Amino acid sequence: MKKIDKKIEAMRKYGNLLCPKCSGDFQIEGKSLKCALGHTYDISKKGTVNFVLGYGEENYNLAMLEARERVISEGFFDDIVLAVCEEIYTDYRLKGDMDQPLRILDAGCGDGSHIALIGKFFEEKGVETELIGVDISKDGIHIAGRKDNDVLYFVADLAHLPFKDRSIDVIVNILSPVNYKDFRRVLTEDGLVYKVIPETGYLKELRKLYGLSEYQNTEIVQHLKDNAKVIKERKIKSVENVEAYLDDLLLMTPMLWDREIMDPGAKLREITIDCALFTFGFEE
Ligand SMILES: C[S@@+](CC[C@H](N)C(=O)[O-])C[C@H]1O[C@@H](n2cnc3c(N)ncnc32)[C@H](O)[C@@H]1O
Ligand SMILES: [Zn+2]
Repeated sequence: MKKIDKKIEAMRKYGNLLCPKCSGDFQIEGKSLKCALGHTYDISKKGTVNFVLGYGEENYNLAMLEARERVISEGFFDDIVLAVCEEIYTDYRLKGDMDQPLRILDAGCGDGSHIALIGKFFEEKGVETELIGVDISKDGIHIAGRKDNDVLYFVADLAHLPFKDRSIDVIVNILSPVNYKDFRRVLTEDGLVYKVIPETGYLKELRKLYGLSEYQNTEIVQHLKDNAKVIKERKIKSVENVEAYLDDLLLMTPMLWDREIMDPGAKLREITIDCALFTFGFEE
């Protein structure tokens, strides 16, 4: 079966897409999604859909996100993705059997690698999933669409997710912005968000090299606690040998984009990962 047909079938099966302009239901007509008011979104050959035609703001370009894809495939983020998978799986098992697939959304999925890896983890555990990745970056979703997997990838804004109310069981949000209002809207009542944010030591060697001050996440954490009910917090720390892909790492890192890429010299080989993984819900 062609990729587009496979993805259209998955969209039909998923059935929870809605029009981000008017919140109306979609019909699938040929190779488009169309709501009752006539808002129409084409499904690309790769089976992706762009829901932010016209207003998407793009900071991430193709070269940067391709570099990020390579860095992910080298395993730089493996500990982060594994920690997220383990937490989701633990909570999933506590909940007991579900009578439908576990619906996981990666909100701010970038190049789409993480949600694909999460899918693999659950496949190996024998858990049926419905996997969705959204990102505002067209280039990110373009790269994601090249992958051969069952994930549905959409260009969409976190603030206007194209999903029905209470239609997602799990939201993953890795090193990306958050929108508490829309996350709350699309999550099921007992649904949970798994959010990874940097801690002080994250990429500290690069910050030092570029003369940047120490990173502080105090405001982000406070904002999180003001808007959601934190259930768990887990630290993720490791030191990675990045020798084989240092150039890609320098290219993919947002904090360095407005700076000239510097020659790190002979010594920069090890880079620190230091993150916090928050599990939270919106219990009333
Ligand atoms: C640092 S990247 C992280 C990407 C991916 N989660 C990863 O870890 O590789 C942040 C991502 O958030 C996306 N993003 C920023 N604002 C967004 C918005 N309003 N809606 C959807 N995605 C957004 C960016 O396009 C970018 O891909
Ligand atoms: Zn509409």
